[in-house]
Amino acid sequence: MKKIGVLTSGGDCSGMNAAIRSVVRTALSKGLEVYGIRQGFIGLLDGLIKPMDSRSVSGIVQRAGTILHTARCEEFKFDRGQEQAVKTIQDFGLDGLVVIGGNGTMAGALALHNKGVPVVGIPGSIDNDLYGTDMSVGADTALNTTVSMIDIIRDTASSHDRAFIIEVMGRDSGYLALVSAVASGAEAAIIPEVPFDLDAIATHLFERYKAGKTNSIVIVAEGASSAYTIERKLKNKIGYETRISVLGHIQRGGATTVFDRLMASKFGHNAVEGLLHGKFGVMTALHNSQYMYVALEDTVLKKKKINSKLLDLAVDLSS
Ligand code: F6P
Repeated sequence: MKKIGVLTSGGDCSGMNAAIRSVVRTALSKGLEVYGIRQGFIGLLDGLIKPMDSRSVSGIVQRAGTILHTARCEEFKFDRGQEQAVKTIQDFGLDGLVVIGGNGTMAGALALHNKGVPVVGIPGSIDNDLYGTDMSVGADTALNTTVSMIDIIRDTASSHDRAFIIEVMGRDSGYLALVSAVASGAEAAIIPEVPFDLDAIATHLFERYKAGKTNSIVIVAEGASSAYTIERKLKNKIGYETRISVLGHIQRGGATTVFDRLMASKFGHNAVEGLLHGKFGVMTALHNSQYMYVALEDTVLKKKKINSKLLDLAVDLSS
């Protein structure tokens, strides 16, 4: 292993830069050449590949986004695109690849692994829905941003005696919604993993209202429903005047938290070490406070379950 490439793909998240920096500096410290691939798998199709040095990753450990840029690449989902990527990897003489991103990205990494490319993945997604790792890079930063925003909304909700329906990201995952509900003291959370009963939620909120609680927060994961739909159905049933807030892409940026910087740095380091020690077709992971590797096949094929203890906590604290 003499030359490796690194790319970021799919939705960006805070901490991708810290991971890139760690991959580049670890690789250089082990005497490897390292190449940055621009715009995710598109860069592999179009040969957007440039050498990186230590200075090219200076001053980015705290910065959200990705200096390598990212994209969702339709062409790469098909065999022809994947074959083209393998050819580019051969043309540039890359002996291994580090791929940073979420579910779709790990599926792409697995496709390359199955075509014989030595690949290690690093989980990076605010959704934190990758099987095999307790945390993905970016989830902690997104949570901190989300909870800060909910705290701010709570200020105005309490002044006006209102209920706010707040939509957070999470295409198929309620992790952000559930953790931010617990951490912000929300009265209800609606997530895709658990069937919800809006009449029961309305009754719960109305009882709180009658008991003198002057405001309420309902968090909705976008994968479960939309804040607009939920508000329409709760309105006029819960006592409070209602308002809507959709947090959207605010949750993807923002200065990377210490937790994400540290984990991304360790993942980057472990990814390069993995390549050097012949650990291919794996993703770096953090499980039960231990850093480890999980097979890409498991990550791609298995579904991460929502933590049932967290669910119980959210229910018990929402009264
Ligand atoms: O996968 C991360 C995520 O932020 C999801 O929560 C969200 O549904 C999606 O990306 C949005 O993607 P885009 O930025 O391409 O609209």
